This record gives sequence, structure tokens and C-alpha cells, in this order.
Amino acid sequence: MSQSPFAAIILAAGSGTRMKSALPKVMHPLAGRPMIAYLMDALRPLSPAAAVVVVGPGMDGVARIVVPAESVVQDPPLGTGDAVRTGLQALKSRLAPAGSIGEVLVLYGDTPFLSTETLERLLAERRRTSAAILVAGMRPANPGPYGRFVLAPDGTLERIVEAADAGPEEQTIGLVNGGIMVIEASRLDELLDGLDRDNVKGEFYLTDIVRVARRKGLPCRAVELPAEGLIGINTRAELAEAEALMQRRLRRAAMDSGVTLIAPETVFLSEDTQLAHDVVVEPNVTFGPGVTVGERARIRSFSHLEGATVGAGAIVGPFARLRPGAVLEEDVHVGNFVEVKAARLGAGAKANHLTYIGDAEVGARTNIGAGTITCNYDGFNKFQTIIGEGAFIGSNTALVAPVQVGAGAIVAAGSVITRDVAPDALSIARGQQVDKPGRATKIRARLRGKNS
Ligand code: UD1
Ligand code: MG
Repeated sequence: MSQSPFAAIILAAGSGTRMKSALPKVMHPLAGRPMIAYLMDALRPLSPAAAVVVVGPGMDGVARIVVPAESVVQDPPLGTGDAVRTGLQALKSRLAPAGSIGEVLVLYGDTPFLSTETLERLLAERRRTSAAILVAGMRPANPGPYGRFVLAPDGTLERIVEAADAGPEEQTIGLVNGGIMVIEASRLDELLDGLDRDNVKGEFYLTDIVRVARRKGLPCRAVELPAEGLIGINTRAELAEAEALMQRRLRRAAMDSGVTLIAPETVFLSEDTQLAHDVVVEPNVTFGPGVTVGERARIRSFSHLEGATVGAGAIVGPFARLRPGAVLEEDVHVGNFVEVKAARLGAGAKANHLTYIGDAEVGARTNIGAGTITCNYDGFNKFQTIIGEGAFIGSNTALVAPVQVGAGAIVAAGSVITRDVAPDALSIARGQQVDKPGRATKIRARLRGKNS
């Protein structure tokens, strides 16, 4: 843990030009969660004295997601150096006296793989070396867009050259800026004052404070860390690579905890997916946010689950869709082309084929026949369907909500149920069958006669 308190500034105001998106870059999800949320998670255990997130104008969504950290608006965003200046002003008004802070940790909102251990290590390293600035570096396979570290002969950090400003020789430098800086708090103001916009992008680069510090004779250092933890996301292609990495980690964690993924690379998990031990997930399954699956349950191929709770021993799919509020108790079977939304299916209930169950309660052991639909929506409002335990709903039944079917009742196939059905009653609500012996032959003869 840190010895003297530190404060954190998280930069998230950039417009994310390269994403070509209406959504702020840091709100783009990885494994179903905005990328900035991962960063905030990594920071939280270190209990910074204050944390300020710098957001752009209109980025209220970002401000909401980072609570309890406070946000400050950088308007207009003039570069990462300008963002830190904005953040520092906000910090000063929150911390009294500002001098009580040992260092300021600057993080970029688009580096979601940072770990708490890495941050802790960087803070400790700055204190140990008394560097005015300590920066995390990495050697990614493709150093392309990252700022290049120019080292002095003694191995200390001389300056950081942004990729856009680097000459051909500097472009070949493999050690690049991973985007985490620890800066001695008492120096930060004067270092930021030394920044200018004299560069290709015409922005105040935070990275230039290394040059400013060296000019003042202050020592700066680079610490090399594994690239995987420092990856930055600037484009949709990088977002996809990051998603792939996140998925690999989540699949591995699921398997390590006792879950069988038959074809792991085809299963997509959310960061909060909870799969108990001995769950089996067949190929091509997607777990959106908010899914919990109990032990021994089997999720069969091509199923899509979000906001759903699946009980122990349940079987879902193939081709099932569980939407938010779906709760399947133990040993429930939900089969192909069945959709469940805001509905609870009691233990052992079955809906095995071609069914929609929405805004409903289905009692334990009840069997829902193929093609059953809860007609829950009249175009304006949603209504409940309540079915008791041990009932039998025949195939192709329309349950026009609000409606109740009592425990043990049988509803005949093809019924349109508009009134409540009493417990243990048989309800048949369909057109009467009329049979006319021999009529088919007569019809055929008549039609043949017409055509000849
Ligand atoms: C930045 C670094 C680069 C480093 C890389 C690591 C600079 C100038 N360059 O480049 O050396 O290798 O990160 O990932 O710092 N932001 C603001 N306000 C602004 C501009 C940006 O808050 O005015 C935020 C962005 O929302 C983003 C972060 O700062 O979260 C970094 O900005 P970005 O444009 O992604 O910088 P890079 O080009 O990736
Ligand atoms: Mg970036």
C-alpha cells in the first residue's frame, strides 16, 4: 500500500476521433462493460486521496459510470497535457492542502488492462527512485501509434516523442509509452506550465513534460512492463483485439473454476458472467451482462442469454434466448426457439419448443407445449400470465394476458385462453371440428367435371 497519499487523474475527454463513433471512446464495452470501468476497478483498491476523471463536454454517461470518482469537464479538449491541467485544478479544489499529496498518478481511460499490482508497483518505484516523473513503458509487437521513449546514456528517460512527430530513426524505437505516469505532486504545476502546442497535432502533449523536467534538471525514469497490461485502444480494430484478449482471459477463468467449454473460442462471456462448477457450455453461446448459471446446468449451442438466472441442472437450448428477468429454477428445460423474458419457471418446468414466455410465472413441473405464446402486450401495456404447478399447456396455445391457469389444469392444444382456468380444470378454447364423411370425393368429382 502507498506510504504517502496520492491522487489520480484519469483522462477520458478525448473525442476518440479514430473510433469514428458518437459514443465516447472510453464507453465502448469490452466483455459487456465500458472500458473505463476496468480502469476504475484497478485503481479503487489503492484508495487514492482523490480521483478525478477528466471528461469532454456532454459526456454525462462517463461521469455516471465512474462514480464515486468525481468528474471535471475539459472544454475544449486540447490534448492530454491540457487534460491533466484541468484535472489538477479540480484536484486542488478538493484536496486541502494540496501539498499533502506525494504524487499524482495519471491514467488514460483507454487502457483497460491495467492491474492494481502494476499501479502499486509504479507508485512504489517512483518513491524508491525519487524520480520527478516515472512512466510505464512496453515493447508491443507493433509500436506503431505509441509515443517513443528516448533514453539517455545512463538509461534514464530523456524525452517521449509522439509517433506522429517521430523521425524515421525514432520510429524504429521499440520501447514505447504505455500511458501511465507517476509525477511528483509538488512539481506538476510548473511542469505543465512548460508545455506548448508546437507539434504535428497542435495539442498540449502530456508526454512533453518529460522534456520540460529534464530541462529543469529533474530526473525521469521509465519502467518496462509486459505489453499485455498496457494496451491502449484507439481504433475499432484495436477494440476487437482487446475484446479477444478479454474473452481469452474470461474463458480461461471459467474453465479454471470448473466449467466445461467445449469450444472455448466460440463462447462469448461478459465480465460479470457467473458459471458454477460443472456447467457445460456447448459451442456458439453468448452471455450478455448479468447472467448466473447454477451447477451442472447445460447451455446448448446457439443460445443467447442476458440478465438471466439459470438454476442447477437446467438445460437451455439449443437456440434458446433468455432475456432480462428470465429465472429458470432447478432442472428446468428450455429448448429450441424458446424465448423467456421477465418470467420465472419453477423447478422442473419444461418449455421445449417454439415458445414465448414473457411477463409470466410458471409453476414447478408444468409442461408448456410447442408453440405456446403468452400474449403479454396489447400494444400499450404489458400483462402477466400466471400458471400454477403441474399444469399442462397443450401445443399452440395463446395465453392472452392478464390470465391465470390454476395448478394441475390442462389446456387443450390450439386454445386461445382469455379467461382464468381453475385448478385441475380442462379448458378447451378452439373451433369445433366438423366431419362430413365422403364429402372429399364429391368435391373432387365436381371440380374435375368443371375442368374437362
Ligand atoms: C497517448 C500518448 C502516447 C501513448 C499512448 C498510450 C500523448 C500525447 N500520447 O497517445 O504517448 O503511447 O497514449 O496508450 O499523451 N484525452 C483527454 N483530453 C484530450 C485528449 C485526450 O482527456 O484533450 C484522453 C483520451 O480520452 C484518452 C487519453 O487521454 O483516454 C489518451 O488520449 P489518446 O488520444 O488515446 O492518446 P494516444 O494517441 O493513444
Ligand atoms: Mg490512446
